[in-house]
Amino acid sequence: MQVPNKIVAVTGGARGIGKAIAAAFADRGARVALLDLVPADVEATRAEFAARGVDVRAYTVNVAKEAEVVAALDRVVADFGGLDVMVNNAGIIKDALLVKVKDGNVVGKMTLDQWQAVIDVNLTGVFLCGREAAERMIRLGKGGLIINIASISKAGNPGQSNYSATKAGVTAMAVVWARELARFGIRAASIAPGFTRTDLLAGMPPEMLEKVTQPVPLKRLGLPEEVAHAAVFIAENDYFTGRSIDVDGGMRL
Ligand code: NAI
Repeated sequence: MQVPNKIVAVTGGARGIGKAIAAAFADRGARVALLDLVPADVEATRAEFAARGVDVRAYTVNVAKEAEVVAALDRVVADFGGLDVMVNNAGIIKDALLVKVKDGNVVGKMTLDQWQAVIDVNLTGVFLCGREAAERMIRLGKGGLIINIASISKAGNPGQSNYSATKAGVTAMAVVWARELARFGIRAASIAPGFTRTDLLAGMPPEMLEKVTQPVPLKRLGLPEEVAHAAVFIAENDYFTGRSIDVDGGMRL
């Protein structure tokens, strides 16, 4: 795929990895739709991109709500006249041990709310955005690309029953979609970042950050731009589909 003038929609595009992916495509001449939950944040990012001359629009949407996803993608196609790339990036964490034991006593559990909130955004949100993007790409008849943002936690990370399940799920869905949608000229792939310097990690105390970077062979957090680089590679390489790129500094969980 030649990126210039392509229409690229990014969920969670207001900040972090999503913003970096949108910027990387915009820098190569793409037209960008930013989809995010927080109106002020997504508007601020839109204004920042527009000031750099990017053809950009902002959409407030909760990816976990079917009607909002349908309406937002209808608007994207109406505003831009198409949809070439859908990046399913919006994600949250609500970490807890499955069962927390202290001094031989059970003192906590991952709550159903913690489980469901992460499933709703990270798994159902990706399903809804992927499905609605695919439907529109098929109707438009010009092929396309869907990229799911997974995580190294797809391998199973303690404290992340909910998050790991969603990230394994979105990796698998990219494989399913690659196989189902190839006949329409639509590719699908995933990216599994390692610990990356964004607001998602901002709540982590410094000693915890030290602990998570220690086992990384490259001894540092990844940068959002380094994850974005993988998204551009996937877009530009027409033989890449159904697979995942790990951008994790060499760290395996
Ligand atoms: P972030 O927290 O900095 O940004 C996430 C963005 O998604 C925010 O703008 C937020 O408003 C938006 N968002 C959250 N819930 C939403 C919803 N229901 N509907 C629409 N937008 C919503 O997070 P970050 O770090 O940029 O993460 C992006 C993706 O990368 C996530 O899927 C995350 O799981 C994944 N990832 C992040 C890693 C990291 O270390 N930062 C590592 C591996 C994967």
